[in-house]
Amino acid sequence: MSHKIPATQRKILVTSALPYANGSIHLGHLVEYIQTDIWVRFQKMQGNSCIYCCADDTHGTPIMLHAEKEGITPEQLIDRVWHEHKRDFDGFHVAFDNYYSTNSPETRHYADTIYTRLRDAGLIEKRAIEQFYDPVKQMFLPDRFIKGECPKCHAKDQYGDSCEVCGATYQPTELIEPYSAVSGAMPVRKESDHYFFKLSDPRCADFLKSWIVPPHVPAAAGNKLNGWLGSGLSDWDISRVAPYFGFEIPDAPGKYYYVWLDAPIGYMGSFQNYCDKHGLNFDDYWKPDSDAELYHFIGKDILYFHALFWPAELRHAGFRTPSGVFCHGFLTVNGSKMSKSRGTFITAESYLRHLNPEWLRYYYAAKLNGSMEDIDLNLEDFSARVNADLVGKYVNIASRSAGFITKRFSGKLDSLSRYAPWLEKDYRFFDDQGNLAWDFPGMIESGGDRTQVEAPMLRFFQHHSNIIAPLIEGREYSKALREIMFLADIANRYVNATKPWEIAKQEGRETDLHEICTVTLNLFRLLTIYLKPILPIVAESVEAFLNLAPLQWIDANTLISGHTINEYQHLMTRVDPKKIEAMVDENKQTLEPTPAPAPARHAEHQQHVAQSDEAKAPEQNYIAIDDFAKVDLRIARIVTASHVEGADKLIRLELDIGEAKPRQVFAGIKSAYDPATLVGRLTVMVANLAPRKMKFGMSEGMVLAASGDTPGLFILSPDAGAQPGMRVK
Ligand code: 2FM
Ligand code: ZN
Repeated sequence: MSHKIPATQRKILVTSALPYANGSIHLGHLVEYIQTDIWVRFQKMQGNSCIYCCADDTHGTPIMLHAEKEGITPEQLIDRVWHEHKRDFDGFHVAFDNYYSTNSPETRHYADTIYTRLRDAGLIEKRAIEQFYDPVKQMFLPDRFIKGECPKCHAKDQYGDSCEVCGATYQPTELIEPYSAVSGAMPVRKESDHYFFKLSDPRCADFLKSWIVPPHVPAAAGNKLNGWLGSGLSDWDISRVAPYFGFEIPDAPGKYYYVWLDAPIGYMGSFQNYCDKHGLNFDDYWKPDSDAELYHFIGKDILYFHALFWPAELRHAGFRTPSGVFCHGFLTVNGSKMSKSRGTFITAESYLRHLNPEWLRYYYAAKLNGSMEDIDLNLEDFSARVNADLVGKYVNIASRSAGFITKRFSGKLDSLSRYAPWLEKDYRFFDDQGNLAWDFPGMIESGGDRTQVEAPMLRFFQHHSNIIAPLIEGREYSKALREIMFLADIANRYVNATKPWEIAKQEGRETDLHEICTVTLNLFRLLTIYLKPILPIVAESVEAFLNLAPLQWIDANTLISGHTINEYQHLMTRVDPKKIEAMVDENKQTLEPTPAPAPARHAEHQQHVAQSDEAKAPEQNYIAIDDFAKVDLRIARIVTASHVEGADKLIRLELDIGEAKPRQVFAGIKSAYDPATLVGRLTVMVANLAPRKMKFGMSEGMVLAASGDTPGLFILSPDAGAQPGMRVK
């Protein structure tokens, strides 16, 4: 199939940030995918060619170690996660034209192309650097995998790049008593060759200086970007040393591209894959003088990569640069950072188990604008708003008029022929001050002739396609929805003023009833056109009900008349707050950690949510020392560890706590540990927990493990010297 794009159509390629193949999609991620999907659907409705490409971001150390812990290959892990992500995106009606993987031949091809072109332009430099190395695991350690005591506040167990207690940032070399988060070993310093992209080269700085301006980047980001640039960009280390899951650098055996080098190149890889399937020419979109537009939707935490590194790479490797980097803020839930203990760290999958995805699409749209401000999902406001706007205002318009058309007019709309002369006219809707010069329902309410009002009202609704379109184009969705709901209010007041249910009972008023219901359904159809990018499934049901071909934006220029519609089926139910409670409860209980090492916000991780503040909110429910003394904690040696057939979370452990016979414990740690690596380790167990009969046998205690908002699950280990059976107090 080959694409022929008419000259008037815009050619647009759109991307959203590629989610790591390392964890589940959650409501924080969805802000961006929903924002992008609305924009893309709008462009398609406009008749533009708009291709939406995305992929899983599959490379890097965390994914490699995650797979290892699960006892599977990275390829197996990323394949499984790809399907989970795709299922979640489908569930929210995020309609990618291509959802691919960075672990693909296409991405490798463009990574190699960009690397060799930069190298040939003299922009790659090899340099030996010294880094922390885990002598047990035999690998170099990314900052986030080194822990130790904070050099500023002396808090223990802080990450190699920043302290979660005092907020200080530092080099991993500054940590006191550093240790490897992978093996626990003391890291040593070791030298190796690395490859740097020379961002300090004047060619890069000169280019970026002129490039980091609107519309390429948000005006609000200008200061920040100029600040980064002004302080001089450092060369960027684009390589990592084996073992690493990624692409090996062609002329540097044992060295791999750093995940952040090939991640944005994954946009190209996904698009190339799309081109191959659809007979499109990749270069038409990516050559320097391409007439296509290229937009990246991202969160503000990865602006650095997209507004500096990425355009500099593209520019000096002979590709076009983005037309725009669209940057949004983070998500908070109920005014705070998402939190597992409060049940507000909600996965896409769990949301879909309880609630309708279009409610969230609507709510996010009602909050989103073109800025980088954070948005809040207030769960009470969410149900109030969806119920009031979508069910109370929008759906209500159709449900109050459709029945009469079906029952009284055999499903056929009025011809509207009486309106023809009025519908041709151009009306002036606003006075010189910009105030609305018409109060359509008001004129009927005060006894005016409705036929004088209906034609201009219909024209006013149609005219709004020109007001709403630029708002959606500029990602001002909340403003667009305000306009749409303003129209919905007018439509409802019109129905209230004309009272079709009363007219239906009056003899000889068939024509009135027919006209009123036809006008109402036309208003409803126009609202549906404007809401369609946000509510694609509801719009589909409306198309079926009104017996229409898929609605396009241009259809706002026409009205429907003399046409037969189908019977009205209910379009949307109200939000039941109990279901929200159930969802939050479920997420409270599901303190199931994903088995990934702790993330670095600016390096190998991005969540599109503000970090959890749980660490800063200690529980105020004190217990007495006697209460604590009731818990018999013992040092235990893991004698055996094995998988449990039929249990996907459990590992069966035998624990020696100095008793005659080891205790059997079923521990929910399978997501994080390979049984073989546990045997022989010391840990801590609760020894006086009442034995519990489980499907797989008796569980005679509990092993202690740590987990938090960041992925990962970590069983405890005592310091050297502790012996099995020792009491922990
Ligand atoms: O921060 C993240 O989640 C990255 N996986 C985003 C990559 S976006 C693009 F560069 F690929
Ligand atoms: Zn500190």
